[in-house]
Amino acid sequence: MKLFGLISAALLMGFPCLASPLAKRDFGPVTIYTPPSTYTNERTLYGRQLMLKTQASDNGVLLATWENYTPDKPYFPIYRSTDHGFTWKEISRVQDTVNGWGLRYQPHLYELEVDFAGFPKGTILIAGNSIPKDLSKTQLDLYASKDRGVTWTFVSHIANGGVALPNNGETPVWEPFLMMYNGQLVCYYSDQRDPAYGQKMVHQVTSDGKNWGAVVNDVRYPTYTARPGMPIVHKLPTGSYMMTYEYGGGPDYSDYQFPVYYKISKNPLAFDSVQGRPVKTTDGYVPKGSPSNIWTSVGGANGTIVVSAASNAELYINRKNGEGPWTVLKTNSPAAYTRYLDVGFNPKDIAIIAGGQLGQGSTNKVTFTATDVNGCTTCS
Ligand SMILES: *[C@@H]1O[C@H](CO)[C@@H](O)[C@H](O)[C@H]1NC(C)=O
Repeated sequence: MKLFGLISAALLMGFPCLASPLAKRDFGPVTIYTPPSTYTNERTLYGRQLMLKTQASDNGVLLATWENYTPDKPYFPIYRSTDHGFTWKEISRVQDTVNGWGLRYQPHLYELEVDFAGFPKGTILIAGNSIPKDLSKTQLDLYASKDRGVTWTFVSHIANGGVALPNNGETPVWEPFLMMYNGQLVCYYSDQRDPAYGQKMVHQVTSDGKNWGAVVNDVRYPTYTARPGMPIVHKLPTGSYMMTYEYGGGPDYSDYQFPVYYKISKNPLAFDSVQGRPVKTTDGYVPKGSPSNIWTSVGGANGTIVVSAASNAELYINRKNGEGPWTVLKTNSPAAYTRYLDVGFNPKDIAIIAGGQLGQGSTNKVTFTATDVNGCTTCS
């Protein structure tokens, strides 16, 4: 509490943040969770975190979750940090209360910043993939918490598909991502149900949280075997929206064919007509696999767009609203099979959660790292 008093006083009086102990915000990785050896397969993967924003008491409060490979029915663990990510404690578990299958893959946490469908501003939503043990079905479901992540209730089924294997010809749905737009809740996800595409990316919207509208295409390629996936969308200062995705089967920039691509659209419900382009550095390098993106106001007139990928620990930044080449930002975060980025308590901090890499189950764990978007020359 004393800490918050200090920083608010410093901000009110217009002192530079350097005066505050919170100015040094470049730290980590700290371990959120180390899975026991009884966990199956990957043990942990697919970390997702959320910096809470809507309530004054939220200063520095983060929630985290991940794919959690318990030997029993899987659930999404909810861990909370009240000190900007330094330390973490389990506060709840989101259990499947409707299908009897568990909540197995691809959680995504989202805070309502406006009232919506009977849920007050500050409600925490989680979307994820409910899948039975035999992997015979995929069901994207939505749960909500009105008490900042402590208790959860089922809200609605978003979309359902077939066998939970990422093979062309199967019909699963994957990787939900939630965002409010124009008073409606949007869920972006990857979709293998259309026989014309091995996988494409789509969205549906709801006005009441219960009934989801028609499936609308966002990213698809004419080659059947292309597998664009893992949509993540954030708003840019221009008012446009940026979606990052992995372009499975895309141009082979080097070792494997999941180059990180992005689309920028004025209307986030109309990505389909926009041409995708690679995140390419000044050296011509394109990172690969399971990207994430965030925008922070720090870094010049346009702020900074930050992108992560599975292929590299480094982050990729752009200060021209997505135009021109990208540059590399070093971080102490490990690379991971889909990290998730957020803006920290101080907007120059990029909060990074990592849940481990595919095929590395015995060493996977969940970590949190804060990286100064200007590099660590300004962080101490
Ligand atoms: C801001 O972005 C625009 C492109 O949208 C670019 O032309 C301009 O140079 C950028 N400004 C700075 C300060 O980098």
